[in-house]
Amino acid sequence: MLTRPAAIIALALLAFVPLALAHEGATGVVKERMDLMDTQKEAMKVIGQMAKGKVPFDAAKAAEAAGEIERTSKQIPDLFPEGTGGHPSEAKPEVWTKWDEFTGDAEGLDTAARDLILALEAPGAPNWKVQFKGVIDACKTCHKTFRMEDE
Ligand code: HEC
Repeated sequence: MLTRPAAIIALALLAFVPLALAHEGATGVVKERMDLMDTQKEAMKVIGQMAKGKVPFDAAKAAEAAGEIERTSKQIPDLFPEGTGGHPSEAKPEVWTKWDEFTGDAEGLDTAARDLILALEAPGAPNWKVQFKGVIDACKTCHKTFRMEDE
């Protein structure tokens, strides 16, 4: 048991933990959803490098990454149970006050990822970049409303 002054000092120190550091201290479902979002970011990077021509276009590989995004998009709602906002999470309270819009945005990502897979499977995949842009937009749409400190 901490003595009272020690507890106050400990609390005061906590308030100044830099955000990035505190972020790494995320646990439980908050950590799980951060990890899921990081997985999505990595998958987007795989496809993005092809879009920029930094690595040769490989439809099968891109479709695999898009499949990862489609799969994980379905898990988003379950990883935001009520009462899990607040530090160190960057989820805005609107997640829970506008729950239908939030789950709608998760479905929007699911649909966009599926459209991208279909575009990648089409012979010659003429539309894949357009559909990739659709996935980027689906990430941004949700972040704009529901994630702190985002453009
Ligand atoms: C339905 C809403 C929604 C969609 C769709 C969505 N995100 Fe997020 N994302 C969030 C929220 C909310 C957070 C903040 C989570 C937290 O800190 O608790 C977040 C956080 C993140 C983070 C930071 C993770 C961390 O380590 O703190 C990354 C990276 C990210 N998202 C990438 C993506 C990418 C890439 C996509 C699209 C493929 C995407 N997100 C789609 C809502 C969404």
